[in-house]
Amino acid sequence: MKPVATILLAFAASFLSSCNSTPLYQNTSASPESRATDLLKRMTLEEKILQASQYYVGENDNPNNKGAALPDLPAETGSLIFMSKDPAFANALQRKAVEESRLGIPVLLGYDVIHGYRTIFPIPLAQACSWNPDMAEKCAGIAASEAVHAGLKWTFSPMVDIARDPRWGRVMEGYGEDPYTASVFAAALVRGYQGEDLSAGTSLASCLKHYVGYGASEAGRDYVPTDMSDQTLWDTYLPSFKSGVEAGASTVMSAFNTLNGVPASANHYTLTEILKEKWDFDGFVVSDWGAVDQLVYQGMAADKEDAAALAINAGVDMDMSDWVYRDYLASAINDGTVSMKTLDEAVLRILTLKFKLGLFENPYVEELPESEWALTEENQDASLKMAEESIVLLKNNGVLPLAKDAKVALTGPFADSSRDMNGAWSAMGNTAESIPIAHAMNLVFPNLVTSVASSDVVVCCIGQGAGRTGENRSVSSLEIAPEQVDLVKQARNAGKKVVVVLTNGRPLVLSSIEPYADAIVETWHLGTRAGDAIAAVLCGYVNPSGKLAITFPYSMGQIPIYYNRHRRARLAPEGNYIDGPIEPLYAFGHGLSYSTFEYANLTLSSSRVKKGETVTATVDVTNTSSIDGAETVFWFIRDVASLVTRPDKELRHFEKIMIPAGETHSFSFEIEPLRDLGTVDARGDRYVDAGEYTIMVGSSSVSLYVE
Ligand code: GLC
Repeated sequence: MKPVATILLAFAASFLSSCNSTPLYQNTSASPESRATDLLKRMTLEEKILQASQYYVGENDNPNNKGAALPDLPAETGSLIFMSKDPAFANALQRKAVEESRLGIPVLLGYDVIHGYRTIFPIPLAQACSWNPDMAEKCAGIAASEAVHAGLKWTFSPMVDIARDPRWGRVMEGYGEDPYTASVFAAALVRGYQGEDLSAGTSLASCLKHYVGYGASEAGRDYVPTDMSDQTLWDTYLPSFKSGVEAGASTVMSAFNTLNGVPASANHYTLTEILKEKWDFDGFVVSDWGAVDQLVYQGMAADKEDAAALAINAGVDMDMSDWVYRDYLASAINDGTVSMKTLDEAVLRILTLKFKLGLFENPYVEELPESEWALTEENQDASLKMAEESIVLLKNNGVLPLAKDAKVALTGPFADSSRDMNGAWSAMGNTAESIPIAHAMNLVFPNLVTSVASSDVVVCCIGQGAGRTGENRSVSSLEIAPEQVDLVKQARNAGKKVVVVLTNGRPLVLSSIEPYADAIVETWHLGTRAGDAIAAVLCGYVNPSGKLAITFPYSMGQIPIYYNRHRRARLAPEGNYIDGPIEPLYAFGHGLSYSTFEYANLTLSSSRVKKGETVTATVDVTNTSSIDGAETVFWFIRDVASLVTRPDKELRHFEKIMIPAGETHSFSFEIEPLRDLGTVDARGDRYVDAGEYTIMVGSSSVSLYVE
């Protein structure tokens, strides 16, 4: 038996030696950056390259990127697109990374959690029409919590592309045509997904996409080149990304499109000079699916090794799904076309995020049954509230709300559909769980009838199904399908009141049905509780409060059409079409309520303001009806004369407030000149011109209050 002293000494010696030999990257009190730097030093070239590579397992609902079932994946693969909702499967993949890789580096599991995970919320375009970013933030937090329970720690969301051509299928995925609106929602979604602490058990790393200019695609076609001035790039397409970066976004996804001749996934100017240097972005950039490989097809890379070099040298830190980095980066480094410093910087960004996410300390997820974390009553209630606030009442000649004893007939292809309620990019949402319109209407209107002839009012459920929008879903026409127009006309010709309920993921041309409809309700794709929200609005239990975040054209020929256009050289009617209206059918900000609101007493605290000072505009809004209602008040500015001309009006503040019947609420906009009157130049530097500005306030971009 050894004397105690010897044993203690032995213990002490081993303890001291272990203190000295614990690698810094395993020291949880060290910073994520220093732990990543230490770990990076210990990695081989092959380990670094695999850390900068993402592959996929499983299959999702995007036909353009069907995943292989279970490819033989190297344990050192940095990230996987996890197309499953089984936490045990996630843990199996994670166990392989942690236990089979030499340094035990956890894998980062990501997925497209765009508008919900198992509980599906309204599509992002619909959420923008709620003008309730706080509610959007709450929904993102719920989506994150559900996704983390399935084993994810990263979402490829929010998509913050500005889209002004509704022919583009991905218009459903963003927050509309306006840079300010998209900026507000970008920050809200980042906060919602990431919470206060990325390592928390309910936080997902966010991903701003698709960087940059993807929504400016010519004629609304997908994947095509985009071309714009630097001025437009800075004042229209970059602001929402800047807002997301300022909100702390963890990652950015580089886009498919060529931007001004240089593919976005090989664009050093946007990826490094702007994102990483000017904005000091400290997260990492992941390419879009196969976007590195596509550099060859786009005519920029001579071959795959060239593509790997161009992408990583431009600033793409991780290569999604095409193994180009895995297969060609080593030779690019050996050829000297890529420096080890460049690869190290990319891997350092990736490892730093993994430390921030707490993956080294907590790589595994608790394998709880779905019933404990998915589609809970609280989650569904949030989806219902978001859906109710996202509905936009476009037209109402008094037919709505319907009396509970009304004899209502339902027609149209979307009356009984649950699949189409979820829309595109509905993650692990089970369409069978979504409430169809007819199901909810049956509960609210007991006198539902089965024939138009025996009805008082016909609700025509028309529009476009979930499959008509999303990636690679561009259309050449926005017209309502002829058979759907016939449904509306038949109801009208039968002498019935006609309520059109639209299920769609993009603005449509409604001129063919508008004259025959007593009411038109835009319900988008509202998710799990869609039917309940729609029935609640039609019966008046919910007073609609949504307003358009994207313009509805009067005709296809008007496209592109959006509210924040620059002034033309001549006043109307010069410059108008000679064969039709120049104004849209429904403008940006349009949306009716069952309440009525009156604006009055627009005041400015001063008619002059200096840089660094503020001036406050206020307006009183009275609910002149007998129904409580929420009103969104929009504040626009106009720079009357500027060296670089600007849009005729620019949204710079909005606020949505519930105003009880008969009461008045005072809305205010505290104007800080550089932030609220200023703009950016073609180099991205913000400035504010001295001179005259007009402050406008109203319930939409066209219904502005004038004293
Ligand atoms: C897609 C999309 C992108 C998505 C990615 C992974 O092609 O463009 O938005 O995040 O692939 O599914």
